[in-house]
Amino acid sequence: MGDLEGKFALVTGAGRGIGAATAKKLSDAGARVIVNDLDADVATEVAAGLPGAVAAPADLTDPDTGDALIALALEQFGGLDIVVNNAGYIWHSAIHNMTDEQWDAMLDIHISAQFRVLRAYGRWLRKNADRSSDIRKVVNISSTMGLHGGPTQLAYSAGKAAVVGLTRTLAKEWGRFNVTVNAVAFGAIDTRLTSPYATEPNIAIVKGQERKVGLSHQQIEEANNASPLGRIGSAEDAANAIYLMCIPESNWITGEVLLASGGVRS
Ligand SMILES: NC(=O)c1ccc[n+]([C@@H]2O[C@H](COP(=O)([O-])OP(=O)(O)OC[C@H]3O[C@@H](n4cnc5c(N)ncnc54)[C@H](O)[C@@H]3O)[C@@H](O)[C@H]2O)c1
Repeated sequence: MGDLEGKFALVTGAGRGIGAATAKKLSDAGARVIVNDLDADVATEVAAGLPGAVAAPADLTDPDTGDALIALALEQFGGLDIVVNNAGYIWHSAIHNMTDEQWDAMLDIHISAQFRVLRAYGRWLRKNADRSSDIRKVVNISSTMGLHGGPTQLAYSAGKAAVVGLTRTLAKEWGRFNVTVNAVAFGAIDTRLTSPYATEPNIAIVKGQERKVGLSHQQIEEANNASPLGRIGSAEDAANAIYLMCIPESNWITGEVLLASGGVRS
């Protein structure tokens, strides 16, 4: 029997990368998972490969999506034990070139979306949980950029820093519901966001618009060398760190930011 047998989970941005690896990790441990993603095709594909999983394609920047996802989980499962707020992307710019649209988009996906999912979850918890309830887990995804900053990542870093405040506050508010609330701050992880490009950045389509993503081979080499372990993380490494915050062994850890960066501290 897996550690998460009988548990119900929601993972946002679970169609690819860290979210997809997390949905699989939680499922392998016995949980049934709501697989949210902006892109319906990948959400459906991931859910189809996991027993009892449910695809939930939806745009988290739509103000109604947080409520809808929690309602779907309750309708499908009758409860919700684990929420992983993972969805996100990068839209680079130095401050002098950053538009209001870029700034707003980064804060919208990285902090407002997490807020709306958790507000909806909190409204359900208030009526259904107290200190004697089975323990529940929230894991919010931050980044080393949110802790240390990074050039051309002003809005992204601000959003990821805000995740820390949200996490620490909810850890204090939700102890009375027996919910732990932690963040995991990743260093470079090998996903679409860090995919190697030869001469020009790779393009990810996010909400129908092109976003430059990826790293040059030189940046990847630098990221590999920056880690005492000599490599950037895999999506599975990242999912494992999230998993640690979901299992019973972390039941007395709350309000923390787990740095999962292969030893990179700046
Ligand atoms: N890859 C890294 O090096 C790294 C480092 C630190 C933090 N992170 C964070 O990890 C999380 C996952 O990133 P990843 O590297 O797996 O990227 P990814 O692009 O592989 O996956 C992110 C997923 O989020 C989804 N998504 C984006 N906007 C959405 C929206 N509005 N609604 C629903 N889904 C949406 C995308 O469609 C995509 O499938 C992000 O929050 C990212 O900021 C990544």
